[in-house]
Amino acid sequence: MKKKFIVANWKLNGDIKTISNFLKNLKLKAPLYLKYNTIIIAPSTIYLERVYKNIKDINIFVSAQDVDINKKGAFTGETSILMLKDIGVKYVIIGHSERRFLHNEDNKLITEKFGLIKSLNLIPILCIGESENERKENKTKEVIKNQLSMILKRFGNKIFTNTIIAYEPIWAIGTGISADPIYVQSIHKFIKNYINTYDANNIEKLIVQYGGSINSKNAKNFLEQPDIDGLLIGSASLIYEEFLKILKISNDILVNN
Ligand code: PGA
Repeated sequence: MKKKFIVANWKLNGDIKTISNFLKNLKLKAPLYLKYNTIIIAPSTIYLERVYKNIKDINIFVSAQDVDINKKGAFTGETSILMLKDIGVKYVIIGHSERRFLHNEDNKLITEKFGLIKSLNLIPILCIGESENERKENKTKEVIKNQLSMILKRFGNKIFTNTIIAYEPIWAIGTGISADPIYVQSIHKFIKNYINTYDANNIEKLIVQYGGSINSKNAKNFLEQPDIDGLLIGSASLIYEEFLKILKISNDILVNN
């Protein structure tokens, strides 16, 4: 069984004091769970280097929550992929629904960001998923295909090797209403099968994780599914006790397999 990828997406939360306390506790306990988990922390940009320096020795990674499409120049307020790489960032979340909706990011822009991240040998965590209305209209698979196909067409069949796709149904994010794990399993299978038709050789290296109202009570039901390779966790990842509980759950599932 492959390692689970557990990502803490802190969004626009945290300060020096709470982050220090979180990392102190993470460093104490997380090494117990690293054999079966790849742990990635995604703080706000301003804290990325602080978190990286704090956890790099214990093999926990950091992820940015977004990146600009430009590498440098007159783009006030943006963060460049070169800067992220420079300070030790390995992963970059792109296409999160909060960016798609609050910042009008479309598939075209997200495709460009995906290619940029890959071109510098960093790993994109590409968020995809349907809205509540799209789900009601039975359009989930169509939406997902559109979100993936532009990337495949633009960069070729092998582009998803060594990448992470986070399936995050928008209606499940921050609502406290997670999706049904069996439903998520079927969507993950669909995603893998779809990419498999383009690139059959590398499907094992593709990670498909789930995100949307995950907590320590429901994590097990998701992580037990064969095609749910990890979790992208928002609010529950802000509380170290809760995050550590999820890491332990993930660890125990793999230990017992
Ligand atoms: P949530 O957020 O766990 O708070 O629902 C998940 C996400 O937005 O990645």
